[in-house]
Amino acid sequence: MSGMTKFLLATTMLIAASARADATADLFAKRCAGCHGGDGAGHTKLATKVKVPDFTSAKEQGDTTDKEIKDAITDGVKDSKMPAWKERLTAEEIAALSKYVRTLGPSKSVAK
Ligand code: HEC
Repeated sequence: MSGMTKFLLATTMLIAASARADATADLFAKRCAGCHGGDGAGHTKLATKVKVPDFTSAKEQGDTTDKEIKDAITDGVKDSKMPAWKERLTAEEIAALSKYVRTLGPSKSVAK
């Protein structure tokens, strides 16, 4: 294998790895940020109207279990504007988003 081929291969693999990590952030930006805000704080115009929780708040993160987060994304929240995503996202995407929601909180509140 030539040096150039090796270089191209390594670069391609690096790009693929970071693309996977960014995929969940992209998904959140595309599907969720409209209501929850890019940072999850829910300070968008629409967020104030639909009353979304503040994912960056320690209290909100502490009051919510991992299961509640996953269930809310899977089935939506009754009598609210939170839609169910199970028909539109894969189980893997929902699991990744549930973890992603945790990363939006202050680190000390993240469930152990
Ligand atoms: C149309 C607006 C809207 C969109 C789009 C939306 N949400 Fe929500 N979400 C809400 C509202 C409103 C609530 C609050 C429901 C309630 O408890 O009254 C909520 C609640 C939640 C909760 C529950 C938090 C808790 O304290 O139990 C999670 C988790 C969540 N959303 C994640 C997501 C994710 C992930 C996406 C993208 C796949 C998303 N939401 C897209 C409006 C939205």
